[in-house]
Amino acid sequence: MSAHYKPRHFIDLDAFDTQTLNIILHTALRLKKYRSWRKDLHGKTLAMIFEKPSTRTRVSFEVAMKELGGETVVLSGKEMQLGHGESLGDTARVLSRFVQGLMIRTFEQSNLTEMAAHASIPVINGLTNFSHPCQVMADLMTALEKFKKLKGLEVAWCGDGNNNVLTSWMHAAGIFDFSIRIAAPASLAPDKETLKKAQAKANITTSDNLQTALKNADIVLTDTWVSMHDTNADERRKLLQPYQIDTAQMALAKSSAIFMHCLPAHRGEEVTDAVMDGAQSAVWDEAENRLHVQKAILLWCFRKI
Ligand code: CP
Ligand code: NVA
Repeated sequence: MSAHYKPRHFIDLDAFDTQTLNIILHTALRLKKYRSWRKDLHGKTLAMIFEKPSTRTRVSFEVAMKELGGETVVLSGKEMQLGHGESLGDTARVLSRFVQGLMIRTFEQSNLTEMAAHASIPVINGLTNFSHPCQVMADLMTALEKFKKLKGLEVAWCGDGNNNVLTSWMHAAGIFDFSIRIAAPASLAPDKETLKKAQAKANITTSDNLQTALKNADIVLTDTWVSMHDTNADERRKLLQPYQIDTAQMALAKSSAIFMHCLPAHRGEEVTDAVMDGAQSAVWDEAENRLHVQKAILLWCFRKI
């Protein structure tokens, strides 16, 4: 990376314009079609720091780098000096001397932005308590494959309204001009400031009524009731019980609707087996698309697109 350039970080979707995200999404669609097409990341190493568990994010980034000709170093926050008192800023400065890109999965959003502020290499958000933009890029790619457009889609978000995947969906709604109806218990409603900002750019409504949100939806979305950073598991499970997506709830959406879930799913909690394994489920495409869309994100971060 030339010292003349500010690194291209991938922190949150609301920092992007429609054109840039469209370039990334359409590159991802081509990369899926021509799987071994580009080797542009030869000589580049991506370090990945995980402070929370991961299956999809870890494997998809590792395979993405390999297929693009690059390498990865996977680090656990606990085993690094970072977990024993070294500052985020110093860690970012040091890693910037060894590798060409950094992906981090962490707790507070401020951990990520602090690393980005001190890194001279691109930093990618691999999930924080606040947002999960790589996931939602894969979701948008999946929606594009199914509906050939994003504009005008009606999205129903069901269950946990205070959720990192939902934050990135709300950011995307303003960029691609689709609507979101959020159904969540009042005590798990979206964070007020995040919601207000998103509502300034997109048609986003909230209520505690699942059926109203689902009616005529194109996309039915849910997530685990207990995220990795959540502490009140029992209380959440009790509050969210009425928000389970089963075949009767799916039937309220359009007959062409798809079901999406970032995974890991807790079958029998937020979603039934019948919906997960049913004809409307897009969850496996959604998971696969993490690989293709993250390749495109990496190419963007490394200024190859
Ligand atoms: N959806 C997602 O990010 O999965 P992992 O936690 O397995 O990475
Ligand atoms: N909301 C979930 C997403 C997991 C990919 C969590 O943060 O645990």
